[in-house]
Amino acid sequence: MSDINTEFSEGILRVELNRPDKKNAMTSAMYTRLAEILAEADRDDAVRIVLWHGAGGSFTAGNDIQDFLSNPPAAGGSPQGLLTDAFIAFSKPIVAAVNGVAVGGGTTMLTHCDFVYAAENTRFQIPFINLALVPEFGSSFSIPARVGHLRAAELFLLGEPFTAQHAVELGLVTRVVPDADLLTTATATARKLAAKPRGALRASKRLIKHASLGPVREAAGIEGQEFAQRVRGAEAQEAFSAFLEKRPPNFNQTPARVAAE
Ligand code: COA
Repeated sequence: MSDINTEFSEGILRVELNRPDKKNAMTSAMYTRLAEILAEADRDDAVRIVLWHGAGGSFTAGNDIQDFLSNPPAAGGSPQGLLTDAFIAFSKPIVAAVNGVAVGGGTTMLTHCDFVYAAENTRFQIPFINLALVPEFGSSFSIPARVGHLRAAELFLLGEPFTAQHAVELGLVTRVVPDADLLTTATATARKLAAKPRGALRASKRLIKHASLGPVREAAGIEGQEFAQRVRGAEAQEAFSAFLEKRPPNFNQTPARVAAE
């Protein structure tokens, strides 16, 4: 078994994040593999739709925090950056089915999907601020563009969990469905899409993404530089240690000079 499973049937490539004991937290290797899967799927004419979900009752708890310490992303060419590029370039519909935890990248990566079905039990959260980090995947542009500045500030600067119902009200989710119906609902949409004329489907996706492509790419570049600095900083190191030691972080111990940088 791999950390990402794929299965192809009737034009639909099912992609499953598969680290259930870690709530499908994403390692560098998983970002790189997911970017490869998307690039291959884009080239393969047989693949019409990607259906994306997580194993074991969770979508993903975002970046693996131990991996932030072992493989902190650099400003250019990081696995996270490669995946962002792959999402931006991907020309076919992505249908996401999310449940359990959709935290960090588990929320922000969804901005690159075209349909997002969330089980009632889904816990969303963009907790970068609590880890002394900043937004990624172009979400510093795409989320304020969708929800407005005030609601984006609440999500990014407070970093608190929110419900699937709130996610739908914000426009981050297509529809909330009963937990038991999640994959059936997402699969039904993937099947409908797979029956559409493929050329027009790709052209339509390209057109509806056109206006946001440049700003998302630009935001991702700026985010990458800020992120690379923050992830190596004293505040973030304290946040990561606290998570791994299962204790609250103490940012008051961070020297003021470092905190202000
Ligand atoms: N990185 C590394 N390990 C993670 C993880 C992450 N992002 N998220 C969860 N895990 C691990 C936990 O450490 C735990 O491992 P253990 O069993 O070896 O102790 C296991 O996954 C199960 O998680 P747990 O915290 O027990 O589940 P929960 O249902 O109580 O809480 C979360 C789930 C997602 C709310 C909580 O794990 C969490 O806040 N994780 C961090 C999420 C985060 O900040 N991600 C953003 C990174 S940018």
